[in-house]
Amino acid sequence: MAVKNILKMGEPSLLVKSKEVKAFGSPELLQLLQDMKDTMAQANGAGLAAPQIGVDLQVVIFGTDQINPRYPDAERVPKTVLINPKLEILGDPSDDLQMGWEGCLSVPGMRGLVPRHKHLRYSGFDEWGNEISRDVSGFHARVVQHECDHLWGILYPMRMTDMSQFGFVDVLFPELDPYAED
Ligand code: NI
Repeated sequence: MAVKNILKMGEPSLLVKSKEVKAFGSPELLQLLQDMKDTMAQANGAGLAAPQIGVDLQVVIFGTDQINPRYPDAERVPKTVLINPKLEILGDPSDDLQMGWEGCLSVPGMRGLVPRHKHLRYSGFDEWGNEISRDVSGFHARVVQHECDHLWGILYPMRMTDMSQFGFVDVLFPELDPYAED
């Protein structure tokens, strides 16, 4: 177990574009992924990006085996390791935006209503260099956009279009309070 400190909004390194991974299957990459999994599990996160633990690489993990208590209404997203991701919006990008509530382990205790594309194709690699390509929609698509944004130096409040819909989770969703680990 290596639970790492999660960097919080205000940290300049969270606003930097991350570098591509060049070597797959390396001990360093596998250790990074173990640290990320341990850290995400400890925090009950729906996803985590390497820059959130101070590593400047295009690596994200997301998904759970069971319903996440922080997002009890969300559909299940398969556990995924995604490296050097590329996103392609499917459908008409101009009318494909959907609003949804998001939180982030780097913005603890807060939630915001964020517009995201409904349908997209993501591609990239797993830790062994095997190609991944999936067409997804809804919450799965939202999680991928949120996590990949971390790799481009973007935090979800920077995507918000209505800042009146940004607030503290215990005020917005008191019923979630017992689970509000972030
Ligand atoms: Ni996040």
